[in-house]
Amino acid sequence: MTQELTSPSPAPQAPGTGRGPGWWRDAVIYQVYVRSFADSDGDGIGDLRGARERLPYLKDLGVDAVWLTPFYASPQADGGYDVADYRAVDPLFGTLQDADELIRAAHDLGLRVIVDIVPNHTSDRHPWFQDPELARQRYLFRPGKGESGELPPNDWESVFGGPAWTRTDRGDWYLHLFAPEQPDLNWDNPEVHAEFEAIMRFWLDLGVDGFRVDVAHGMIKAPGLPDIGHGAQAQLIGAQVLPFFDQDGVHAIHRAWRRLLDGYGDARGKQVIGVAEAWAPSAERLALYVRPDELHQAFNFQFLNAPWQSDALRSVIDASLAATASVGAPTTWVLSNHDVVRHTTRLGGSLARARAATLLMLALPGSAYLYQGEELGLPEVTDLPDEVRQDPAFFRGGRATGAVGPGTDTESAPDGAAAGGQDGFRDGCRVPLPWSGELPPYGFGPGGSWLPQPADWGGLTVAAQTGDPASTLELYRAALELRRRLPGLGDGPMSWAPAPDGVLALTRPGLLCTVNTLGHDVGLPAPGTPLLSSAPVTVDDATAQLPGDSCTWWAI
Ligand code: GLC
Repeated sequence: MTQELTSPSPAPQAPGTGRGPGWWRDAVIYQVYVRSFADSDGDGIGDLRGARERLPYLKDLGVDAVWLTPFYASPQADGGYDVADYRAVDPLFGTLQDADELIRAAHDLGLRVIVDIVPNHTSDRHPWFQDPELARQRYLFRPGKGESGELPPNDWESVFGGPAWTRTDRGDWYLHLFAPEQPDLNWDNPEVHAEFEAIMRFWLDLGVDGFRVDVAHGMIKAPGLPDIGHGAQAQLIGAQVLPFFDQDGVHAIHRAWRRLLDGYGDARGKQVIGVAEAWAPSAERLALYVRPDELHQAFNFQFLNAPWQSDALRSVIDASLAATASVGAPTTWVLSNHDVVRHTTRLGGSLARARAATLLMLALPGSAYLYQGEELGLPEVTDLPDEVRQDPAFFRGGRATGAVGPGTDTESAPDGAAAGGQDGFRDGCRVPLPWSGELPPYGFGPGGSWLPQPADWGGLTVAAQTGDPASTLELYRAALELRRRLPGLGDGPMSWAPAPDGVLALTRPGLLCTVNTLGHDVGLPAPGTPLLSSAPVTVDDATAQLPGDSCTWWAI
């Protein structure tokens, strides 16, 4: 390792370093799914060097920070969420030097960098699991039930389908809430706590600005690992507290991590954050993860799962804002990620709705996460041949749409259009990005792409959309630019304004945002001057015609 690796590059300067108002409270953070973002070496798999080379694109898009999905040493049984060495970069994605250079290059551009940490489970190739003695202490082994221990210790199901237990050659069973290659760690063991704190310090020393905490609701299991007594457990995730998810005990871990993050940041005059991927049954329970002494952000999956209906959207927004305000935290909005059907497809296969939903999200107070490719309006790829699929849920017969949460909104699909992806599996949102050109791999890299890209993506590339004011890419650029220019649009107040049925109107400092969730035009007195709209809006004699499925920002 070079000297450089131990001397992190300075984080971008911004108001809110130290303990004051935080940069993260209104940040727009772009999720880079590394293996599908940009490939530098032609093996068809995106890598860290490829991501570094494309950072200027993200700067130009106007985001504040980048979240990189796991690039650590891993057998890739679950797209890298099965980590064998938390301090090493998998050769598929590059080297530690590449990670260091990426972080430095991002900071030079004024972009912060968040990396994933995966604390609920490791890979079964992790040295701890490979050593039978260590494994017994640091993972969750139990004797089986039945006369000769031939039955799993309880009735828990893996999120990816099938039992959550696998029997070893030694005859005992180990718990894996996800794939068998992802054994769950035993968080009753203090060595597990110490190791994850050391891993965090390792990446903080390399300069990262925060962690996205994978399965932040999963580390603690109910004492005695009680049966659930319900066959369809996937349906219950995010709907109720389960003996393996959203147990109160997880909060002590988050409090300890917050102390670590604050201590580390304070000593260096910067703010480093934690964002929870937590599936909680209510906005109130989710808010527990962002109490002042816990993590900074928690993805708002209730918003992600809301149907495209004005009343439903309004109540989810109200509930989220009230819950997070009660603990003094901002809300963290998200519409797409690498686990769910892309929102263009999820919202009834309607790019118009997707564009409107994004403008709505970016007008709400708080922070927002974007998933790579949504700025191009990419749809879910729904016709991948089985031979190319890699989602472990596909092979285990589960339904991984929202692998860790409720499924898709099928009710709001217009005219019966399919709202889901391909059987609910996750490869369809992970197809490599199209950058330029008319043919696959559309500039993704000098080789092919690990999942085939559709033949008709030529018009969706970054190059094709750049400079076209009607394109989705330019809509995102314009929205992010306005968000930066309008003071108070990020973390400021919000109130509802009167609006006809099916329409939402909300006011923010200097801005009024209308959303027409109906499939047809709605006329109303023009609330101001149109600043930005997801579809052409007309104003005649002080009457505005809001196109169906559209969102408009008005200067007031
Ligand atoms: C998280 C990740 C998902 C992964 C799972 C298990 O939900 O986002 O991709 O499969 O955790 O680590």
